[in-house]
Amino acid sequence: MERGMILLVAALMIYVSPGVQGTAHLSFVNTTVNITRHGCGVTKLCVETPNDCDPAGNTSCLFGSVVSTTPVAPNGANLSIQLRGDSNGYVALGLTVNASEGTTMLFICGQNSSDNGTFFFRTMQRNNTDDMLTATERRVTEIRGMVEGSVIKCEFDVPGVNASNTRTSHVTTFSILLGTGSFDGNVVGRFNATLNSGPLNLANPASNIQTTLAPTTNTTMGNNSGAVQPHAVLLLLSVLTLSVMLRA
Ligand SMILES: *[C@@H]1O[C@H](CO)[C@@H](O)[C@H](O)[C@H]1NC(C)=O
Ligand SMILES: *[C@@H]1O[C@H](CO)[C@@H](O)[C@H](O)[C@H]1NC(C)=O
Ligand SMILES: *[C@@H]1O[C@H](CO)[C@@H](O)[C@H](O)[C@H]1NC(C)=O
Ligand SMILES: *[C@@H]1O[C@H](CO)[C@@H](O)[C@H](O)[C@H]1NC(C)=O
Ligand SMILES: *[C@@H]1O[C@H](CO)[C@@H](O)[C@H](O)[C@H]1NC(C)=O
Ligand SMILES: *[C@@H]1O[C@H](CO)[C@@H](O)[C@H](O)[C@H]1NC(C)=O
Ligand SMILES: *[C@@H]1O[C@H](CO)[C@@H](O)[C@H](O)[C@H]1NC(C)=O
Ligand SMILES: *[C@@H]1O[C@H](CO)[C@@H](O)[C@H](O)[C@H]1NC(C)=O
Ligand SMILES: *[C@@H]1O[C@H](CO)[C@@H](O)[C@H](O)[C@H]1NC(C)=O
Ligand SMILES: *[C@@H]1O[C@H](CO)[C@@H](O)[C@H](O)[C@H]1NC(C)=O
Repeated sequence: MERGMILLVAALMIYVSPGVQGTAHLSFVNTTVNITRHGCGVTKLCVETPNDCDPAGNTSCLFGSVVSTTPVAPNGANLSIQLRGDSNGYVALGLTVNASEGTTMLFICGQNSSDNGTFFFRTMQRNNTDDMLTATERRVTEIRGMVEGSVIKCEFDVPGVNASNTRTSHVTTFSILLGTGSFDGNVVGRFNATLNSGPLNLANPASNIQTTLAPTTNTTMGNNSGAVQPHAVLLLLSVLTLSVMLRA
């Protein structure tokens, strides 16, 4: 059973006032959303749980990727986001400057159990102190999503992101949160964050690989050799892991 749809929206203003669920001017066309690890660490910043899980496979994998344009003042950066996870409610990707204070911009992709599991998209703001979700206005474009059983996949663009708008922080430095929650056809349940990346520069696809490898290499990231070498090291590490496993 496969249900897919594409929301062809040139510029969709997602706005949901409390109690009123709905967005206007959406057109639906069947589509598939393909989300893979291709380009992770090189062209896109990837986070996932469990580690290195495959978003294209059929085992449980909560996966998010972000591609950021170079920020240009005063408009900030444009983000292209992919999200894949397992839920009978919703999966969400959050961007926050500090996950223990302030707020999180939450991008929600879900299935509507009151509507045969139809895909829906929603933006919310989470208060990081008390976990309350409130409807929020945030421009999101090019929303594509599909639901296959409990697997939810979606892609969307978020223009004009600037972390400095809310706090003293580098423009593209955010912690990425991944998590899930319930949706009963009406109410978006509490966001249960299962991954917090810690502060990452979204404009650097390798910004989370560098920290992983910090103890074993002092390669400078950001140039081409730096972007390629970590994979060689990762491969080496996995071969080592494999040989350790074979010995065990
Ligand atoms: C997704 O992958 C399937 C199978 O590999 C392919 O048929 C389809 O065209 C792809 N869709 C997109 C939008 O790339
Ligand atoms: C999905 O999992 C089933 C068994 O769990 C396996 O037979 C099937 O080949 C898998 N499909 C893909 C696309 O990985
Ligand atoms: C980000 O926002 C700050 C404060 O509003 C502003 O000074 C800065 O120019 C913005 N940067 C970009 C790249 O848009
Ligand atoms: C970001 O998107 C806006 C339209 O939403 C576009 O005008 C702008 O040129 C884009 N910026 C970059 C750096 O691509
Ligand atoms: C995040 O906020 C907490 C609580 O306000 C603070 O203790 C911590 O230093 C902040 N972390 C960062 C990286 O700013
Ligand atoms: C759900 O699907 C069933 C069978 O395809 C259909 O009969 C029913 O009307 C659908 N319900 C809704 C709310 O779309
Ligand atoms: C978040 O919740 C706390 C505690 O309820 C409240 O004091 C604070 O004003 C809220 N922050 C925002 C931005 O709504
Ligand atoms: C979920 O489905 C119900 C019943 O069709 C509908 O009233 C509601 O607006 C839908 N919610 C969303 C977010 O699509
Ligand atoms: C949050 O998610 C974790 C891992 O998926 C799960 O073990 C836990 O029960 C969830 N908590 C709530 C309140 O849903
Ligand atoms: C690390 O940096 C030191 C000093 O900059 C250099 O001598 C050394 O060769 C580097 N090691 C590696 C593995 O690149």
